[in-house]
Amino acid sequence: MAAIAELARDTRLTDKYGRAITDLRIAITDRCNYKCVYCRTGNQGALYAELPFSDYLRIARVLTSLGITKVRITGGEPLLRHGVVEFVRELSRLRTMDGEALDIAITTNGHLLAEMAQPLKDAGLRRVTVSMDAVDAERFARITRVSNGFQAVLAGVRESRRVGLSPVKINCVLLRGFNDDQIPAFGRFAREEGVVVRFIEFMPLEEERVWSPDIVVRLEQILERMAEFRRLMEIPHERSETARRYRFEDGAGEIGIIAPVSHPFCGHCSRVRVTSDGKIRTCLFSVFDHDLASVMRRGGSDDDMAAFIRKAIQRKEARHHIGEPDFVPASRTMVHIGG
Ligand code: GTP
Ligand code: 5AD
Repeated sequence: MAAIAELARDTRLTDKYGRAITDLRIAITDRCNYKCVYCRTGNQGALYAELPFSDYLRIARVLTSLGITKVRITGGEPLLRHGVVEFVRELSRLRTMDGEALDIAITTNGHLLAEMAQPLKDAGLRRVTVSMDAVDAERFARITRVSNGFQAVLAGVRESRRVGLSPVKINCVLLRGFNDDQIPAFGRFAREEGVVVRFIEFMPLEEERVWSPDIVVRLEQILERMAEFRRLMEIPHERSETARRYRFEDGAGEIGIIAPVSHPFCGHCSRVRVTSDGKIRTCLFSVFDHDLASVMRRGGSDDDMAAFIRKAIQRKEARHHIGEPDFVPASRTMVHIGG
């Protein structure tokens, strides 16, 4: 038995720095119905192909056989793609190397979530993360450049809670002077709506070059700003988790801070990404990707795919170089990667 367990461990994906790769993100489209100011110019639409869901499913199956335990569906905006519910249902039938069900999540802008939360939950989705960069409808419209979005997203968040998707997480990218005044209001929102609000330091992954170190609202500054509302206490988090976790002193409400700029977490990275057109990306900041779709097009077997994936993982980057003189922008912007 011990020998078999040892063998299984050997076949699990591990990169050359010893990081176990357990977390897969699949972008199923790079179309998006929002034009968030820090992400897209809106001039450029979708750039990359979408594969049939059967291809993503096959990729997920092969990767699961190599040790993946978590699958996050991303975009663009994943809920724009017809067939996503059925895709979740198929994913939920896969089993990890240990025979467990996968932890399946979606990152969405929430615009279509009110109508889709129940079918997604019924199909096997466990949890959802909604991008929401303001709790004020007018500010929300300025950020997303969509006039009626806020009420739709709020309804989506509430419906997700109602149907039992748990936890419901909110991703809020902070830009200095643009939405950092929303921090205390988000503290209240987390408590009142029963959601985990995660503030994210802005990274240079946008279409229009707006990033500068000055625009980043850093972890310590977020904590300071939140203390004007209530003080936070840090609680433990998993090493591979992107977010540091906090509770308010009275125990109610959870806040997360994702600080890739001021406190990089690359050393514990467990992620691999698949783009809508079937390329493997080993880092958000990769300057090249690995064309798994072409292996499939050439009639490659599952074993061929597994061998290709292992080779790609061996080239996983040690870390990002945000803010350093040798920083080279990623070969794709965020909307074409999926977060
Ligand atoms: P869970 O912990 O499973 O809920 O997932 P998550 O925290 O990875 O969730 P999500 O996909 O919402 O990611 C949150 C944000 O963290 C993303 O939108 C990115 O801004 C940032 N992030 C995720 N992965 C990476 C990464 O590999 N590197 C860096 N630098 N940032 C990342
Ligand atoms: N820096 C950090 N996070 C970003 N996101 C999008 N662009 C950036 C960026 N430049 C986040 C969004 C969304 C997720 C897919 O990625 O908030 O939740």
